[in-house]
Amino acid sequence: MNNTLRVGIIGGGLMGREAASAFGRWFVLDKFPVRAELVAVCDLQESLLDWFRQVPTVRQLTRDHRELLRNPDIDVVYVAVPHNLHEAIYLEVLAAGKDLLAEKPFGMDLAAARKIRAAAAASGRFVRCSSEFPFLPGALRVLQFARSGRLGKLIEVHSCFWHASDLDPTKPVNWKRQVKTCGEIGVMGDLGMHVVHVPFRLGYFPIRVYAQLQKVYTQRPDGKGGMAECDTWDNALLHTDIEVDGREVPVRFETKRLAPGATNTWSIEILGTDGGARFSTAEPKSFWHFERNKEQTWGRTDLGFQAAFPTITGGIFEPGFPDCFLQMWAAYVAERAGVLGDRLGCVTPDEAVRSHELFAAALESHRTRAAVAVPKIT
Ligand SMILES: NC(=O)c1ccc[n+]([C@@H]2O[C@H](COP(=O)([O-])OP(=O)(O)OC[C@H]3O[C@@H](n4cnc5c(N)ncnc54)[C@H](O)[C@@H]3O)[C@@H](O)[C@H]2O)c1
Repeated sequence: MNNTLRVGIIGGGLMGREAASAFGRWFVLDKFPVRAELVAVCDLQESLLDWFRQVPTVRQLTRDHRELLRNPDIDVVYVAVPHNLHEAIYLEVLAAGKDLLAEKPFGMDLAAARKIRAAAAASGRFVRCSSEFPFLPGALRVLQFARSGRLGKLIEVHSCFWHASDLDPTKPVNWKRQVKTCGEIGVMGDLGMHVVHVPFRLGYFPIRVYAQLQKVYTQRPDGKGGMAECDTWDNALLHTDIEVDGREVPVRFETKRLAPGATNTWSIEILGTDGGARFSTAEPKSFWHFERNKEQTWGRTDLGFQAAFPTITGGIFEPGFPDCFLQMWAAYVAERAGVLGDRLGCVTPDEAVRSHELFAAALESHRTRAAVAVPKIT
């Protein structure tokens, strides 16, 4: 296959290596029209660059992202660095004439998100933002159900992403726990894109928000024998209203670092008068669907591996995080190549800015303890 997309990664930490894993098994995508190959990696840490030496396609390893961006043999750059670096590095990627898959959030705050979107539009480059859970078979089924017309009148929507490891007060601080590196939006920046992707795709755009934001642990071990400040929001409950067919409908977005027992639990529930659908990564094979007939029934379908982009994996096998991450990359590459069709695409710059409009309004809501209008996207 000579249609090969050459990818560079800036930030080879948790997510940079996850991306390497996706490109390393790209061949599991069945009859996919484009090959994607990881060719260059930038990280500040030598030990991480060493890790990437085992990836045979990688031809450039550097600690300087500008050196990577000068490489003419890179088409697309995936940037997975701390949030305070997003704006500057995303703009540099675009200025270098490369396409971009940005990690979330789309910059540290609303101003940064707007600037990145403007630069993306001016550059003409193909830019999307990361959010992989909607590519799991169960999530796709919820999306499909909501679009099928079987909901009746929409009653309410819950879209949640819960983590639990921060419940341990001995967990050392890292850049995700401090405003200077994670942003004032805190947990919303970390987990928020994951919870808005499906609702936004369904046209569920909040018109107002009442936010409850919590900081529970304000200090953590600094890893050097002392304690460090943790000043980001741990949990955020966003109670929003959307307008559907001239009616207001509640949509609740939950992003939590302190959710007892939840390892990395993404879930969505969409309820209507005639039907409903629910999926949680805590039950990765279960697609729950509600039907109102003479009797009202919640049914459970045992899912297999019904991915949007077919793979060689057997249809009865269970999908997991690396699978939805690969599917998300397949969606990025397919959309860039113009062959996405009616399949779900990655978060667009407009959707990413819309998420920041919501998070900015949520901060204001929490400050004023009042519901705040979410501006229409401009
Ligand atoms: N999509 C997801 O499910 C998901 C999950 C976790 C994190 N993330 C996002 O991915 C991004 C990175 O998070 P992570 O968990 O991988 O963090 P991480 O701390 O594990 O990795 C970040 C890496 O960036 C490197 N880095 C810092 N400054 C750099 C620079 N100037 N040039 C090159 N490299 C630099 C660090 O050395 C580190 O290895 C964040 O935006 C985060 O929100 C996404």
